[in-house]
Amino acid sequence: MEFLGRVVTDSGAAFAGLSTSLGGRLGLYAAMAGAGPLTSLQLADRTGLIERYVREWLAAQVAGEYVRYDPDGDTYLLPDEHATVLADPASPAYAIGSFTMLQALYRSEEALMAAFRTGEGVGWEQHVPELFEGVATFFRPGYVASLVAEWLPALNGVVAKLEAGALVADVGCGYGYSTLLMAQAFPNSRFRGFDFHGPSIEAARRMAAEQGLSDRVTFEVATAQGFLGGPYQLITFFDCLHDLGDPGGALRHAEEVLAEDGTCMIVEPNTSANPLDNINPVGRAFTATSATLCLPSAMAQEGPHALGNHAGEEVMRTIAVEAGLRTWKLAVETVTNRVYDVKR
Ligand SMILES: C[S@@+](CC[C@H](N)C(=O)[O-])C[C@H]1O[C@@H](n2cnc3c(N)ncnc32)[C@H](O)[C@@H]1O
Repeated sequence: MEFLGRVVTDSGAAFAGLSTSLGGRLGLYAAMAGAGPLTSLQLADRTGLIERYVREWLAAQVAGEYVRYDPDGDTYLLPDEHATVLADPASPAYAIGSFTMLQALYRSEEALMAAFRTGEGVGWEQHVPELFEGVATFFRPGYVASLVAEWLPALNGVVAKLEAGALVADVGCGYGYSTLLMAQAFPNSRFRGFDFHGPSIEAARRMAAEQGLSDRVTFEVATAQGFLGGPYQLITFFDCLHDLGDPGGALRHAEEVLAEDGTCMIVEPNTSANPLDNINPVGRAFTATSATLCLPSAMAQEGPHALGNHAGEEVMRTIAVEAGLRTWKLAVETVTNRVYDVKR
């Protein structure tokens, strides 16, 4: 009975996820943020949505305790702390990205069924656009919170080089949030974001222009094994090395275009190769997305590896050493990520 209760709780959360995604995409949480108590009619007015739907959505929010209901005034309140998590994309606690990913992931179920049976992959580019936006939004808060303030300073000598003016490659950059955060912080340096997914690169270019950073940032469609330019003082891999079918090839290429005394920064999920260590909410989220997104993506690239996102530090380190990057150090870790300082 206890286990049944757990699964019923999980299925309730899985059903509620669609409402949470709708709340983000339709601007419902944003309209409630800082607004104080609102009736369903007032919220419908603010969002331009149909009151009957908004009322039903609010009932689901109350049931999940995301929103508080006051029966006296028939009003609904999104507490400020909840707004930080649900309504503020600039907040390090913003957690809507994973919900944006859900529809794309659930839509891949048929392809995954076939992949499990045949051993073929489900390529990154095969997903619907919400996946790419969702992944970028999922990772961004962690980068906002930690990249410039903690992760770069934890790498030996890197901040001094970035302040003086360095050339940086951000490999598998997706929407390029990591590239843009670094470019904002280090105006003397030049940043090149590379990803093999064209639509993500286009989104990254748009954001660079919007943020007025096009003078120091470029984004190009390129594979991790073949991006151009160098020598680079810093080459970064944010939450992508395990998604590649040939992470060894990518690191060999990085070694070739790395400046003398250059650094590779490898950011990976904070997961363990031991399944028992992943029995926690973060481990659960990562292992679940590994089976349905990361591993199938690598399988589609036809090897030689398909690591999944919890291959563990030893496997990654061995691949790096074989690629000629023999100095490997765990620089810093957060609840979600481990950051490695890797050199020749
Ligand atoms: C999980 S996403 C991470 C994106 C971004 N670094 C971030 O942190 O938001 C993995 C990225 O790796 C890219 N990717 C996968 N295989 C690649 C390859 N062989 N060459 C270049 N990019 C690749 C995907 O297009 C995707 O943008």
